[in-house]
Amino acid sequence: MFARNVWYVAAWSSEVTAKKPFGRRILNEPVAFYRKTDGTAAALFDRCCHRGYPLSHGRIIGSNLQCGYHGIEFNCEGTCVKIPGQETIPSRAKVRSFPVEEKDGLIWIWMGDAKRAQQTPVPGYQWHTDERWGWKGTTFLIKSNHLYLNDNLLDASHLGYVHLKTVGGNPGIHDKTAMKVERTDRSVTVSRLLPDTPPAPTYTKMANITCNIDRWQDIHFQPGLICVDVGATKVGTGQTAEGRANAMFEFRVANGVTPETEHTTHYFWSAAQSLNPSDAAVTQTMYDEIEKTFREDWEVIEAQYERLLEAPDWRTVDVNNDVASVQARRIYDSLVREECEVGTASPS
Ligand code: FES
Ligand SMILES: [Fe+2]
Repeated sequence: MFARNVWYVAAWSSEVTAKKPFGRRILNEPVAFYRKTDGTAAALFDRCCHRGYPLSHGRIIGSNLQCGYHGIEFNCEGTCVKIPGQETIPSRAKVRSFPVEEKDGLIWIWMGDAKRAQQTPVPGYQWHTDERWGWKGTTFLIKSNHLYLNDNLLDASHLGYVHLKTVGGNPGIHDKTAMKVERTDRSVTVSRLLPDTPPAPTYTKMANITCNIDRWQDIHFQPGLICVDVGATKVGTGQTAEGRANAMFEFRVANGVTPETEHTTHYFWSAAQSLNPSDAAVTQTMYDEIEKTFREDWEVIEAQYERLLEAPDWRTVDVNNDVASVQARRIYDSLVREECEVGTASPS
């Protein structure tokens, strides 16, 4: 089951244009996106109410979407406004529309109760609009249920095993690091400090750090978005605000986790660096490092999911390091449960 009353990342701003509609499956429902004449984005259920042709295969006419099969037009609310060859429009001639908001270079969608969308702020991702940061992002389509991607992002204990050549480093150091986990009803934050530790390869490559550092890792989960805030300070200063303000190197990673289906997940991620925000080459190197890292995760998650699909009733074993991912799953489950009670949850 999916929680519907959540702002999910649906697309990068650049993907949705006024030239051509764009189709993407979200929470197992087809959605057609386009831009209206005022530049704002709109999203309609991607199946024409006439004969079911995908509206994303049609055309944008002003602020309306025209079906590419027989030319019926819908406005951004999904109301049919024109049927070629007839004046009367049947009352059932409409498609569902979804609330969408554009913020920080991303288009966010609300697949649930539209009234609740108005009461829920769009999370946004401030590092995309802060000029002290240079960033680049992309999308992976992961063949796994979205919960396993959340698990992976909230679990720093795999860094020393999966990411030896990039952001990981020595497994012994990661194994010994304590973590603090804080939970609210809709979020989990995991914080770790690796004091007096050798730099991971990415730190040396990006900032030429060769001495020992204090390394911080803060990972913040809310359904649909996981923000990673990490960096290095001089030894002995990693715990203080001043130490972090004078960080030797830091980066931010946005992770928009949006179910496509029960078994596939849109993974929107970006990497941001503050070493030299206006230098595209530095941003590209940061992106390349994180891309390498996430391709390693991608392989692990898909291999894991393939095994798990073979044994749907088999139960995994939790260990201490799973505390954050277990909490995140509980939050997501509780949203699904609540929605089931009021009848808005969608089947997976
Ligand atoms: S299927 Fe859309 S207008 Fe006929
Ligand atoms: Fe990873």
